[in-house]
Amino acid sequence: MVAGARPNFMKIAPIMRALDQLAEDGCQSISGIKAKIVHTGQHYDDGMSETFFRDLGIPAPDFFLNVGSGSHAVQTTRIMTAFEEICDSERPDWVVVVGDVNSTLACAIVAKKAGIGVAHVEAGLRSRDMTMPEEINRIVTDSISDLFFVTEKSGVDNLLYEGKRSDQIHFVGHVMVDNLLHQMRLLESGDSSRFVVAGMKPTPKTYAFLTLHRPANVDDHHTFAGIAAALNTIAETYPIFFPVHPRTRKQLNVFGIRLSDQITQLPPLGFQESLYLWKDAALVLTDSGGLQEETTALGIPCLTLRDNTERPVTIEEGTNVLAGTTTESILTAYKSFLTGGGKAGRVPELWDGRAAERIVGVLRRQ
Ligand code: UD1
Repeated sequence: MVAGARPNFMKIAPIMRALDQLAEDGCQSISGIKAKIVHTGQHYDDGMSETFFRDLGIPAPDFFLNVGSGSHAVQTTRIMTAFEEICDSERPDWVVVVGDVNSTLACAIVAKKAGIGVAHVEAGLRSRDMTMPEEINRIVTDSISDLFFVTEKSGVDNLLYEGKRSDQIHFVGHVMVDNLLHQMRLLESGDSSRFVVAGMKPTPKTYAFLTLHRPANVDDHHTFAGIAAALNTIAETYPIFFPVHPRTRKQLNVFGIRLSDQITQLPPLGFQESLYLWKDAALVLTDSGGLQEETTALGIPCLTLRDNTERPVTIEEGTNVLAGTTTESILTAYKSFLTGGGKAGRVPELWDGRAAERIVGVLRRQ
């Protein structure tokens, strides 16, 4: 089981829990499944990594590759070199990769060339935007995977269109939602006063929550400045809470972009602390893939600061609206939110908290 960057951790947590449950039920010996976690170290700061293992109850990794940051080629090749040794020594039957980050791609290639089965969780999503590194990672990973676990129907259609056999494709729902529902239950029964943000959380539905980290949005000065101008305007009516990703923090400084005092800048937050804030927000603004889906799962209006999405079900059925990345397009979407009260939606099929069980069920039959 491979995880490397922040959005991967939410996806492996429910699968590890489902495997543990099997072991507790005495089924491990029947299934023969023994999972080991490889953490590539693509994300390494405590707030981007350790905190998530703790928060999400993931067992400590069996292997830590410590690859760190670098250009795409440097990061990907470091992961490949280190992961090859593990494949050689462990000879797993399957390598399970999740999502669309560089760790996903690197480990899928290594496993496949070592003759090991590759299972891709969150397979088949397509933005059709080849300027996104994640789109390249998704396409390459799916082109060599053997088993596909799919979160929404569009993923099934895409994979069939690309020539995959239907017996390789399993529409199982979404492990990200399994994790979300599990964490909601923990949050409701736990003590939130431990959160640093507890003292600053306003009345529900009176504020917005923002995440922003895509290279296309924050690495280009003109684009980032245009987004910031829209955010500063929105913050005049809805104060914004903004946990700042390390990439974005760096770019804010490089470009000298000024955000309004109504935008509270926070360090990266743990999963529960972040959920504690956004679950009661009037509106979420984001360019993250995961948050588009999580807001749909909880019925919170979401404006996605992108021109496209690989997760169309969040638009067709959920609460998500594509707001684009210019000042004008974002403010137009915001005005619709103000007049319409935010897009209503329904929870997509099989986003019921049981995707990991289904995945483990399929793996047991291999
Ligand atoms: C990566 C993923 C992206 C995912 C995002 C979630 C790829 C191609 N991109 O993007 O799909 O949405 O993670 O966060 O895999 N840094 C730190 N501490 C860390 C990690 C990174 O300070 O723990 C800084 C480094 O300066 C680094 C920069 O953040 O250069 C970007 O990190 P990187 O992993 O390259 O890409 P992300 O933007 O995080």
